[in-house]
Amino acid sequence: MSKPRAITILTGAGISAESGLGTFRDPGGLWSRYDWRDLATPEGFARDPGFVLDFYNWRRERVRTARPNAAHLALARLAREGEAAVTLVTQNVDDLHERAGSPEVIHMHGTHLTARCAACGHRWPAPAVMAPADPCLACGRPATRPDVVWFGETPHHMGRIARALQATDLFVAIGTSGTVYPAAGFAAAARTAGASTLELNLEPGRNAGVFDAARHGPASEIVPEWVAEVLAER
Ligand code: OAD
Repeated sequence: MSKPRAITILTGAGISAESGLGTFRDPGGLWSRYDWRDLATPEGFARDPGFVLDFYNWRRERVRTARPNAAHLALARLAREGEAAVTLVTQNVDDLHERAGSPEVIHMHGTHLTARCAACGHRWPAPAVMAPADPCLACGRPATRPDVVWFGETPHHMGRIARALQATDLFVAIGTSGTVYPAAGFAAAARTAGASTLELNLEPGRNAGVFDAARHGPASEIVPEWVAEVLAER
């Protein structure tokens, strides 16, 4: 393949696994221990907001003490030093890409860094601990929720992501199982638009068939290796 001028990267929970943040669908992953219907849907939140907020309080604290790993750092280096324009889209709600130095991160599933009012949509910096009675800082209603996208809700920035997928020369999925749509469909969309597609993951994801090439192993090893190769292609 000729040298890519535009690279679109999608990351998932696997890139943060070696930073100590669990994945969802691996053995022992979050969705093997908890029911996602209780913790990651608007209906679950309506049934038991205290349970849902406690779960996200726990996850936010784990993210706060986690550190970016070599894979996050390599992607930041690619954006900084590479000749290609990099669009970095993540399904992760942690801020490890930002803390590794990536200049711009598209958080399609939201972020732990902000709270959101379920009533009026106002956002503000997330407190360490959220409780059901917390009032919205704008409208005052007790409707504070994590600013994350739950099942049944529309991911953020889809227009911008669609434009990047149309214009990209290379699409790379890192540490994602290819299970959750619309993200699981990005590789096919990019390929249809003419891009090459590459999977970097511990093992083949569910959508492995749509990738032109794949490398399997821990993200902290295979991502820095791939980035070094791209940077050497000058
Ligand atoms: P999953 O848990 O579904 O998949 C994680 C992927 O990372 C798997 O394919 C693993 O093989 C791989 N993996 C694990 N450890 C790795 C490592 N050290 N290096 C490289 N790869 C590794 O996570 P996602 O695909 O990100 O959404 O899940 C997508 C969405 O489902 C999440 O954003 C979340 C979840 O429900 C919502 O909560 C809305």
